[in-house]
Amino acid sequence: MTAAKVHEALIRAALEVRQRAYAKYSNFLVGAALLTSDGKIFAGCNVENGSYGLTICAERAAVFAAVAAGHQRYERLALATAGGATPCGACRQVLSEFAPELPILLIDADRIASIVEVNLRDLLPGAFAFTPT
Ligand code: THU
Repeated sequence: MTAAKVHEALIRAALEVRQRAYAKYSNFLVGAALLTSDGKIFAGCNVENGSYGLTICAERAAVFAAVAAGHQRYERLALATAGGATPCGACRQVLSEFAPELPILLIDADRIASIVEVNLRDLLPGAFAFTPT
């Protein structure tokens, strides 16, 4: 597949999984698609809970699915929301564990022609990194 086709597939995956989000309380649907360094795509959506704090964000769902499948090296994340939101702080930290310089495509699900690319290094300066003493 060409780089352009992969890019397109990643965006499509984020938009598709967003439609499966379980956002009963906020009604804010989020879809995330993570491209691994060996060309696989793992998708995640937000899954809310009546006990609100148990909600999981789409980005973390995607990372956890990729790790569980044995993939820890990532090339790019596509994130689809209404308005093209950036990842929350918790998700930035989780993404930074594996890919501190991850390029992130922000997709406004209602205006898919205008995608913005940001880099995790700019979204999370001074990320925590565990160093054993
Ligand atoms: N949410 C995500 O899935 N990712 C983020 O980065 C921010 C927030 C979800 C959590 C909750 O289900 C809804 O969006 C509103 O906060």
